[in-house]
Amino acid sequence: MFETWEELEESIKDCNKCKLCKTRQNIVFGVGNKNADIMFIGEGPGADEDKQGEPFVGKAGKLMNMAFQAVGLKREDVYIANIVKCRPPANRNPEDDEAQSCLNYLRNQVMLVKPKIIVLLGSVALKNILGKEYGITASRGKWVEKKDIKYMPTWHPAALLRDETKKIDFINDLKLVLKENN
Ligand code: URA
Repeated sequence: MFETWEELEESIKDCNKCKLCKTRQNIVFGVGNKNADIMFIGEGPGADEDKQGEPFVGKAGKLMNMAFQAVGLKREDVYIANIVKCRPPANRNPEDDEAQSCLNYLRNQVMLVKPKIIVLLGSVALKNILGKEYGITASRGKWVEKKDIKYMPTWHPAALLRDETKKIDFINDLKLVLKENN
């Protein structure tokens, strides 16, 4: 584990630990307040993120920003990262070996940010962080506490694009997060 952001960022810049390095345009490291109380973890970059090198800048990200606005949360106040830092081709889910190769970077980010709360966006984030026994439908909206961090699993923002009825759940889960953080 690296003690500084500079060392961590240097260590990832030519990463070739998994096959996603062959097709990526940019490594999508993470963005936001490096001392945030609240951290968001998504799945992996899509086409827009791969192009711009920043998480959640495409359609799903725009929807997430709107939800943030609705509850009074500012994107720049939180830290946002993904399970995998490079885009899985054709937006498929990251494979287990890819997630495993990448997870130490994320663990290092969590160690440096020291968030009180981690919001897990969707099934891939939930299963890779809390364990394969968790399912998103049963777990969303319910706190899980582990090693002094409170985890809030919720829908992935892309799921809200497919099913409008999930938007209210997402907003409610964000409200729970804000209430807990006060
Ligand atoms: N979906 C994710 O899980 N992460 C991103 O950064 C963008 C879309």
